[in-house]
Amino acid sequence: MIIIGGTATNGIDENLSKLISIPLLKVEHKIFPDGESYIRIPQHITNQEILVVQSLYPPQDKHFVELLLILETLADMKNNKITAIVPYLAYSRQDRRFKDGEAISIKTILNAIARAGADVLIVIEPHKEEELSYFGKEVKIADPMPELAKEVSKKVEKPFVLAPDRGALERAKRLAEQLNAEYSYIEKERDRDTGEVRIKNLPELRLSGKDVIIVDDIISTGGTMIQATRAAYDHGARKVISVAVHSLFLGDAYEKLINSGVKEIVTTNTIPQDLSKVTIVDVSPAIARKI
Ligand code: R5P
Repeated sequence: MIIIGGTATNGIDENLSKLISIPLLKVEHKIFPDGESYIRIPQHITNQEILVVQSLYPPQDKHFVELLLILETLADMKNNKITAIVPYLAYSRQDRRFKDGEAISIKTILNAIARAGADVLIVIEPHKEEELSYFGKEVKIADPMPELAKEVSKKVEKPFVLAPDRGALERAKRLAEQLNAEYSYIEKERDRDTGEVRIKNLPELRLSGKDVIIVDDIISTGGTMIQATRAAYDHGARKVISVAVHSLFLGDAYEKLINSGVKEIVTTNTIPQDLSKVTIVDVSPAIARKI
């Protein structure tokens, strides 16, 4: 078995290599003057089980093309079983036609990864499990909740886990079980044109004196977390901690989150960042459990 470290790994390839004691080979990579990517696998690999690590954080399109170049090159080397480990799976939120004529982006992305030569796909906390069926081959989902819960438990006394929409309830349940805490959800709706988020429906929440942990798969503009944070404080939360597996923090999302009253943010290393109130948890142990 060998690990191939792609062009966007944020150190996950190195951590994984140490954790499971499998050698790591980094791809050779440069950018041509016209901006196109050059990829070379510096060793001929045949008859091996290959774990390719490539996250699809921004610039997503570039990292995606580079993933395809890596996969197809390895597939050309013959008789390899290739597992694509894609910690952050970009395009996962466009998983259906919200409007007529829209691309189902995740379908195209997963079809391409399969066609380029991946036999197995490992992703961390996908947006929706069902969408992974577009890959059409074996899929493994790595669950980082045990690692996130370990970090969160250091920061809370009376935990209550809140999902910022109904779709995230199962995620909240998994985290709550790890923390031995109660959990619930609120309902949001997003304007498909402006992207604005608003809370639609609030079930009865008793959050008085509780340390509320709002858990989501992705922080992008921060709109969802901010609305959920306001709702938690309106219902008596003592403090709010935000947990997201994949944090993009677009624009001034981080500042807006802190200004809305989020005391701390716990996230993972599927996307690189360096912000003061953000604790980063390594997802390599979650991946290792699937290998
Ligand atoms: C949407 O369904 C996702 O689970 C997240 O809630 C969403 O992507 C977060 O985006 P934003 O930070 O822009 O509200």
